[in-house]
Amino acid sequence: MTVGALAGCGSSSGSSSSGSSTAAQADTTAADVTTESADEAVSALTEAGDTAAASGDLITVGFAQVGHESDWRTASTNSVQAALSKENGIDLQFVDCDNDSAAQLDAVRNFIQQGVDYIVIDPIVSTGWDTVLTEAEDADIPVIVIDRTIDDSDKYTAWVGSEFTNEGLAAGAWLKAYAEAKGISDLNILEITGTTGSSAEIGRTKGFHQYIDDNGWNLLDSQTGDFTQDGGQQVMESYVKSYAGQFNVVICQNDNEAFGAIDAMDAAGVSYGVDGDVILISFDACSAGLTDVLAGKINADFQCNPLQGPDCLNLIQKLEAGEEVPKQTFMAEPWYVAEDILPNITYTNNAGEEVTEDLIVVDQSIIDADY
Ligand code: AHR
Repeated sequence: MTVGALAGCGSSSGSSSSGSSTAAQADTTAADVTTESADEAVSALTEAGDTAAASGDLITVGFAQVGHESDWRTASTNSVQAALSKENGIDLQFVDCDNDSAAQLDAVRNFIQQGVDYIVIDPIVSTGWDTVLTEAEDADIPVIVIDRTIDDSDKYTAWVGSEFTNEGLAAGAWLKAYAEAKGISDLNILEITGTTGSSAEIGRTKGFHQYIDDNGWNLLDSQTGDFTQDGGQQVMESYVKSYAGQFNVVICQNDNEAFGAIDAMDAAGVSYGVDGDVILISFDACSAGLTDVLAGKINADFQCNPLQGPDCLNLIQKLEAGEEVPKQTFMAEPWYVAEDILPNITYTNNAGEEVTEDLIVVDQSIIDADY
């Protein structure tokens, strides 16, 4: 566990593309935070923060981050640190929990003991939270949850993040339509999942497996790569030995796992991507992932938006002003593809609505604007 202002290896983004989701929105129960309002909050608090910082009267926030396992995580950390800054009137304590759930609970308890004004949590796993959230509630400290969800307690003030099940459903809908367009009738799938018990893993698996089940696709194997490049590589190295010549789809639950799978397939002489024998699917759509989409190595990449910093700031500003905040805010998330074959996909989302969503063919300008 690392405490301090840890900057990761990915690109830093100074502004947010977050906001109300049109593509991936599910059963939001209250008005969403919008990009505009989050950006306005940044500038309003920047002005207020200049005065607060000068007087030393800062809002104290503790942020228990998952870790530093992926490019996505680096972008998330950078986004929160940029928004919850001294210039914006906030004294941020950052804890990198290194994917250790016990360390994350300790970090939150430590924030409670210190009596911070707000706690921000990106929960490594979705369960085991009720006791510590009760302790935060008893101490009157509002908790803001970002990215992954907490599924066994509602004792937090607000959550902003992704509709992971829709990401998995969209991947399934795309694969079905793509295979039909290419005349591929048999799909033999190898899956590399994310951190077991995280809501990102649970939702993506649930959504994609619905398509496996409904279409009778053959899932040869599913193992976790823990959202890391090393994990993806190790799982794929074992898959290419155990399933040599038997698979034509690899789905990785994040870009870093896909990079590891690519290295393993390269080493084993397996061809993949637009001109290959294996369809490669990923999630996150970080700039390095989209670079592989543009190169035709990854066929489709389903975005998970990591830029929650401005939304956090907006929530804190509203709470400071005594305003109501929405319990849930879904990030906008587009779907990216390598080939201009299908304009869109239609599927029934996790809220039971039939939606038609665009497929965006990646070009360099999209990568340049990415995180
Ligand atoms: O919770 C979001 C997931 O966590 C991202 O897909 C992954 O890259 C990260 O590690």
